Amino acid sequence: MKRLQLLGFIVGAVVWTAPIFSRVCEFKLSPLPYEYDALEPYISKDIMQLHYESHYKGYLSKLNALLKETSECAVSVEELLKRLDTIPGSIRTAVVNNAGGVANHTLFWKSMSPTGKRKPGGKMLRALKDKWGTWEKFKDEFTRAAKGVFGSGWVWVCADAQGMLSIVTTTNQDSPLSQGLIPLLNLDVWEHAYYLQYFSKRDAYIDAWWQVVDWTAAQNLYSSIGTKQTLE
Ligand SMILES: [Fe+2]
Repeated sequence: MKRLQLLGFIVGAVVWTAPIFSRVCEFKLSPLPYEYDALEPYISKDIMQLHYESHYKGYLSKLNALLKETSECAVSVEELLKRLDTIPGSIRTAVVNNAGGVANHTLFWKSMSPTGKRKPGGKMLRALKDKWGTWEKFKDEFTRAAKGVFGSGWVWVCADAQGMLSIVTTTNQDSPLSQGLIPLLNLDVWEHAYYLQYFSKRDAYIDAWWQVVDWTAAQNLYSSIGTKQTLE
């Protein structure tokens, strides 16, 4: 075989096999990027431990059981949520709940840290100001949205493919990925996220959350819009 033909064969084989090898049928936990007590006194160790060990791990193990049962595989948990219309109807709701539970919490862990960027800068801050006028107005709007979620759900900062920002609320474990949006930062307002410490005072939990928010991941995601990383 001539060198050029051999090269063509190798490239062809890689292109043909790549989608198969990049699909995963069993997902792994993303590690919590800090200790359970790292967000105290704003979010207690008990809450973080319960949230990660029980709720997050529960969503992942149910998702993996579903994938095993149906031989459904995906490039990523996020990719599953982007193509819900291709998921068999018999398991679609369970995928929404459990893949959503995994992806939403994976971003939530990154949306907080003990010593993070409490306010974005650069391009992202400019985009926030373009949309809401001032940082304070954005914060008020996000807080109002979080306090207004009825029942269990989430509040998000998302971008569209052009980088236009929006504040989005979702119920249960629904993900903005399924609406074609790019999630950048989120806040979990399910009772399991605060009840042990704040009981029914969701407003106090939301106010405390602003003390541990971290915009680092959100900024990185925002910078990658339009690049291959966000297109998957
Ligand atoms: Fe949660």
